[in-house]
Amino acid sequence: MTDLADRARSLLSNASRVLVLTGAGISAESGVPTFRGPGGLWREFRPEDLATPEAFARDPRLVWEWYGWRREKVSDCQPNAGHLALARWMLARSGVTLVTQNVDSLHEAAARSTGVADPSPAMPVRLHGSMARERCTRCDHAREGLEPVNAADLATLPHCPSCGALLRPDVVWFGESIPERALSQATEAARTAEACLVIGTAGAVYPAAGFVLAVHRRGRPVIVVDPNATAFDSVATVRLVGQAGEVLPALLA
Ligand code: APR
Repeated sequence: MTDLADRARSLLSNASRVLVLTGAGISAESGVPTFRGPGGLWREFRPEDLATPEAFARDPRLVWEWYGWRREKVSDCQPNAGHLALARWMLARSGVTLVTQNVDSLHEAAARSTGVADPSPAMPVRLHGSMARERCTRCDHAREGLEPVNAADLATLPHCPSCGALLRPDVVWFGESIPERALSQATEAARTAEACLVIGTAGAVYPAAGFVLAVHRRGRPVIVVDPNATAFDSVATVRLVGQAGEVLPALLA
């Protein structure tokens, strides 16, 4: 591993601009379930029942019950050594754009836990929104959603304080488009990156996976950190097989 890690380290330090893409795997050691791996959410639940606008229209109570459960589960989780190593590395150098598919807030928590006055350079671009936010299904109202969800009945679900309509989790569901600002930030980062670091994503979902391939198509190096095979293995310049919490502290020190 060290030769590979040394190679990855020099590719990253020689790049003045780096795109980092993270997925559920970086939060696995914090206790957040992944989606497709062993014990993954999509092994137990059907995305078409829980993570589409159609599912929400059909049964908002069921969808909110599931997000309420996930929110509670994630609220007990802390950033792990992988999140922390990444945040410290991003604050110690410039030119890194962190793009995450995750809807937990562990990257933000890691950035804040560094204690630096301005942790904003380590804050992620959120492609798929955030489970800690809610937005109105009718007006523009949006807010931090930290109250436990009471999904006993339609009337007890979160409702908009402005217009009274139902609130929904502020996440991107299958079939929905990525928020414009996040999409343009990620596209720009992929267009200018001189190296790409991919951590804990199977690479099954677009446009997220497309940003990695865009960097590869420009002939730039791609470094993949994952204990299992991913869709990026064929384009990886360096493949580091292992858990993020073990590989990243050594790689980014
Ligand atoms: N460290 C690093 N990687 C890990 C770890 C770990 N400790 N544990 C698991 N992994 C890897 C798995 O091997 C897998 O390749 O993390 C990856 C998780 O892949 P998925 O479960 O498919 O999650 P992700 O790629 O983030 O999913 C993308 O799909 O369901 C949608 O919107 C959802 O954002 C999500 C998107």
